[in-house]
Amino acid sequence: MKFANGLMFALATALGTIVLLAVSVRGQDTPEALYKAKCVTCHGAHGAGDTRNGKKTGARDFGSAEVQNETDAQFIEIIANGKNMMPGYKKRLTDTQIKDLAAHCREMGNKK
Ligand code: HEC
Repeated sequence: MKFANGLMFALATALGTIVLLAVSVRGQDTPEALYKAKCVTCHGAHGAGDTRNGKKTGARDFGSAEVQNETDAQFIEIIANGKNMMPGYKKRLTDTQIKDLAAHCREMGNKK
């Protein structure tokens, strides 16, 4: 019986650890977190492109009319393959991550 209790405890601990790990991995994976980690240096916290790197590379405000006129497909294409000073991310991000990031950029633009 003692042994069984110990085993149950070990199993519960292992399971808890797996769940915690899964949650923390998922936490780093949200479009917001990815944006903060990879895009914010050029595009700025609110997508205005008002950072030093943003000005240097020519990143535009996501809320500007020109960017708003681009389609979601164009956003996805630019994030995946890059354009001018914008690096492409298709080797580092999955299709889903790129799609989610495109939606996140659109959302930031719409809030303006
Ligand atoms: C080194 C600076 C830099 C980084 C890092 C960067 N971008 Fe860009 N991004 C740019 C520039 C510059 C453009 C404008 C390209 C052009 O049209 O000449 C751009 C364009 C875009 C566009 C299309 C809108 C537009 O201005 O035409 C989207 C969407 C976008 N970036 C999203 C992202 C996302 C998402 C990330 C992170 C995964 C990211 N960018 C990282 C510089 C950057």
